[in-house]
Amino acid sequence: MRRRIEFSLNDQPTSVEAEETTSLLDVLRGELGVFGARFGCGAGQCGACAVLVDSKVVAACEREIGTLEHRSVLTVEGLGTPERPHHLQTAFLELQAGQCGYCLSGILIGAKALLDANPDPSRAEIAKALSWHLCRCGVHNRVMDAVTLAAGRMRRGEVA
Ligand code: FES
Ligand code: FES
Repeated sequence: MRRRIEFSLNDQPTSVEAEETTSLLDVLRGELGVFGARFGCGAGQCGACAVLVDSKVVAACEREIGTLEHRSVLTVEGLGTPERPHHLQTAFLELQAGQCGYCLSGILIGAKALLDANPDPSRAEIAKALSWHLCRCGVHNRVMDAVTLAAGRMRRGEVA
């Protein structure tokens, strides 16, 4: 059924008219012009489309928009901006933790969820938390370095 759905997107009240069963990813990219979350597999298997819904990591390709009434969605666009980047974004850039970058929006979202829950993760914990995210460029070691760097800076209260 097509209807209007209201939710919060990156802390902004957002309203969209859509079929309830349309995926959040299609709404973000096709209706709202928010392109950070990427289409990879379309089947919940790669993490390229990861967003936070009420602070939990979800696959936007599988989450139906009709389930999001009054919920809060965070995409990579809400993590930080070029003017005010998140520590994770700064660290990823500094350590060049990416090649093509296709996977990085999802990885950044996964890393944010990890650091929100565990501000001082071990390398094994980072690897486990991000294991869902596929990266065909193989930047996994640099990703773990960048998450570790960002976590230390956040614990010390440094400015990003
Ligand atoms: S595109 Fe959603 S998990 Fe791969
Ligand atoms: S940097 Fe290319 S897929 Fe991860």
